[in-house]
Amino acid sequence: MLCILIALIARFVSIVIPLTLLKSFYTLYTHVMINKDLFAFLKVLASNPRTMGAILPSSKQLAKEMVTHVTRNLNNVIVELGAGTGVITERLIQSGIHPSQIIVIECAPELAKQLQERFPTVKIITGDAMNLANLLAYEKRTINTIISSLPLRSLPKTTTQSILKQIKKMLPKEGRYIQYTYSFMRNPFYALRNYELIASKRIWMNLPPARVDVWASLLAKQ
Ligand SMILES: C[S@@+](CC[C@H](N)C(=O)[O-])C[C@H]1O[C@@H](n2cnc3c(N)ncnc32)[C@H](O)[C@@H]1O
Repeated sequence: MLCILIALIARFVSIVIPLTLLKSFYTLYTHVMINKDLFAFLKVLASNPRTMGAILPSSKQLAKEMVTHVTRNLNNVIVELGAGTGVITERLIQSGIHPSQIIVIECAPELAKQLQERFPTVKIITGDAMNLANLLAYEKRTINTIISSLPLRSLPKTTTQSILKQIKKMLPKEGRYIQYTYSFMRNPFYALRNYELIASKRIWMNLPPARVDVWASLLAKQ
């Protein structure tokens, strides 16, 4: 009797655990596997892995955590850097932010084109975040959040430094900077000077797992 019971439990565990794992991965990545965005993503990845800096688009869980920290103000704009396939753009809109309040900067022309087709009322700029101030020169509204998927740790350090300078230049003192990274290590090189980390959370349901960091200016406290 005991042997039958043990055999039944073993059978149950050997079927249920792999099925549960399979279901988790299925839930995590179905949204990317079945759409053409993935092919554009992989094409850019193959031609320029350092600029892409990721093996797959962001998961919905990662996008949700990023967007949770966006501050909302009807007169302001949110700038998204390196939108890729638009997982975070989509989440911004789903969260109630009007598409006209979102400006995307994406350097890969094929991804920018796809983003514009998918989000016709979002302002999509094909350009390099290193030129952020120039790209946004026409913009008169206040930027309240810069939300970034840029692969800062895989870009050349000089590029990263220029981008961080531009982000700091464009953010008002009440603004927030939201960035994710796959790195487990904190490195002050990737921090904005005179900004403090106000939230940080690791998202395991992403390949690879990522950490979302949220920065706010110390000047806002004064
Ligand atoms: C990690 S991928 C973005 C993943 C995105 N969250 C998604 O789900 O598809 C990084 C993106 O940043 C873009 N990128 C890299 N360097 C850039 C730069 N200097 N300026 C603008 N976009 C850049 C890449 O083309 C790529 O689309």
